[in-house]
Amino acid sequence: MKQLPDILRGRDLLSLHHYTPGEIELILDTADYLRELKKKDMPHPYLKGKTLGMIFQKSSTRTRVSFEVGIYQLGGMGLFLSSSDIQLGRGETVADTARVLSRYLDGIMIRTFAQSDVEELARHAEVPVINGLTDLLHPCQVLADLQTIRQYKGRLAGLKLAFVGDGNNMAHSLLFGCAKTGISITVASPENYMPRPEIVTAAIGDAAGTGAEIKVVSDPAEAVSGADVVITDVWASMGQESEQLLRAEAFAAYQVSEELVKYAKKDFIFMHCLPAHRGEEVTAGIIDGPHSAVWDEAENRLHAQKAVMALVM
Ligand code: CP
Ligand code: NVA
Repeated sequence: MKQLPDILRGRDLLSLHHYTPGEIELILDTADYLRELKKKDMPHPYLKGKTLGMIFQKSSTRTRVSFEVGIYQLGGMGLFLSSSDIQLGRGETVADTARVLSRYLDGIMIRTFAQSDVEELARHAEVPVINGLTDLLHPCQVLADLQTIRQYKGRLAGLKLAFVGDGNNMAHSLLFGCAKTGISITVASPENYMPRPEIVTAAIGDAAGTGAEIKVVSDPAEAVSGADVVITDVWASMGQESEQLLRAEAFAAYQVSEELVKYAKKDFIFMHCLPAHRGEEVTAGIIDGPHSAVWDEAENRLHAQKAVMALVM
């Protein structure tokens, strides 16, 4: 078990926008190294005796299980803190929750609605805070996505990625992740569902040093044209359940289908953060077909987040 660098110790992970290309590369290299140790069944207790609190204000399968198993594999322990059980759900402030949890824990992961709540938590916590998804961003997922792309394509810089669908938390974090690693990204969304302009502008700024091209269009075929990686996500995210029907109509032309991927490179890979709705944002033939990398992508949540925890906690 080699010594890991200390340069990220104590840092929060609120957005990939806050990380340099070199820091992201360090996380991905560490994630690959931890994946190798796990595959060889070699113990790697980098966080022996440490504890991670995991606050959930939304549902989760992958994030909950991969963080909880991940901290255990690192020699520590995870505590699942459902907001319906802790006092946060009854009106205790985010700041007070941060101050108190910092007296018990070595790190806090939070999945919630407002990005500002995660930032508030981080401001008042004395331990690293990791963003496990907000309405705005999903950085841990995109670290796993970058690890997966590198696993399949052997590199990141110079590739072309298409994100088709809602300009949501996944689109936003992919914009940052691609900009920072030199992947050219085109997001294709219906006019009223495009990524937030301030995120696109920030991503363009991030891309200045890496040469990545950042584009937002409304034509899915244009985005997928020549793509090495095709990604989509649900049309209605958590918290938008009441808009499901309206969105199904708005996004009908944005399904990743056998027809659409004809525009991609022959050896394209398909990714989806999951959970997926077959027959909506993607056809069963694509997500269950030979180009799909979704199960490796889901697995890499474990390795990428272990890397984040081992480096920051
Ligand atoms: N992709 C993802 O974050 O999945 P969960 O909602 O199951 O955590
Ligand atoms: N955009 C989705 C991602 C789920 C992991 C949501 O926020 O519900």
